[in-house]
Amino acid sequence: MSPDAIAIEPLPSDPAPGDLDDLAHLLCSAVQAGAAVSFIAPLSHQDARAWWQSTIASLHRRAVVLVARDRASGRIVGTAQLQPAWAPNQPHRAEVCKVIVHPDVQRRGVARRLMGAIEDAARAGGFTLLTLDARADGPADRLYRALGWTFIGRIPGFALDPDGRALHDDALFYKPVAPARNTGPVSAPPHRLHHVAVICSDYQRSRDFYVRILGLRIVRESFRPDRRSHKLDLALPDGVQIELFSFPDPPPRLTRPEACGLRHLALAVANIDAELSRLASFGVAAEPVRTDGHTGRRFTFVRDPDDLPIELYEQP
Ligand SMILES: CC(C)(COP(=O)(O)OP(=O)(O)OC[C@H]1O[C@@H](n2cnc3c(N)ncnc32)[C@H](O)[C@@H]1OP(=O)(O)O)[C@@H](O)C(=O)NCCC(=O)NCCS
Repeated sequence: MSPDAIAIEPLPSDPAPGDLDDLAHLLCSAVQAGAAVSFIAPLSHQDARAWWQSTIASLHRRAVVLVARDRASGRIVGTAQLQPAWAPNQPHRAEVCKVIVHPDVQRRGVARRLMGAIEDAARAGGFTLLTLDARADGPADRLYRALGWTFIGRIPGFALDPDGRALHDDALFYKPVAPARNTGPVSAPPHRLHHVAVICSDYQRSRDFYVRILGLRIVRESFRPDRRSHKLDLALPDGVQIELFSFPDPPPRLTRPEACGLRHLALAVANIDAELSRLASFGVAAEPVRTDGHTGRRFTFVRDPDDLPIELYEQP
């Protein structure tokens, strides 16, 4: 198998159902094969999928989930995670966990590549110390030693074997990561838009606009009492998110004359006429439809409750 056959890439923030199935399958096959990855056998596909879903939904903003994807089939055949230490006095440390490679492609350097990419991601994310643990004397223990991690020691009887019968020892490792130095072209430039943040003055009114009227999907919703602030994460079907914030008494948006900086949100719609008549049924008015002189595409603008221009751009 040539290294080109498998791509190492970040897991999309809103993974496709097939990706979740692949990750669940990967976890189940590791548990089934006796790997020490937190679970007891048998682990059902449904439980494994639910675990991935909740893990992905609650990821810290500095966390990284990488996958190894078979280019030919699109299937995920390996994964590794970087989880920032929770402690406020350890902003430089992250834990590497859930390093799993499907048995069909083991011993072909996939974990070696995943771990290299995890170190790059850690460096890019400003971490300088990585820690991890693994079942002592198992394949992962050998992997980390082979990759130059420093073995600290072992904890006897740390966890149960996947069959739940006996306890096994745990091996602890660390690896310092040299901080990224700005020496030339960026090796991993930003690859897509992740989210855009919008501040509103009336949370319920704007929530209604973005969720019920525009039809965006809610990813998570929270209220921070200390800041009297709502936060609503909304997703478009391609995974790009909009964070809708409320803060007490925000200054009004400067729309006329237009201020520097971010100008408007543009949402792609399949049929602009159909979308405009749908929005009109909610009382949302639009400017006259225009045609982009460069692309020949039709577009127009509506406004959110705080007068933020939202462009509707026809892209069949
Ligand atoms: C541990 C694991 C991720 C390794 O994945 P992999 O893609 O097969 O590993 P690689 O091919 O990149 O191996 C890199 C090096 O690690 C060492 N290594 C990996 N697996 C090994 C094994 N089973 N026995 C001995 N050494 C091993 C070798 O030095 C290897 O280099 P080499 O093949 O040139 O000798 C994989 O076996 C796995 O998924 N196991 C189950 C899940 C698990 O235990 N995860 C660890 C959780 S912390």
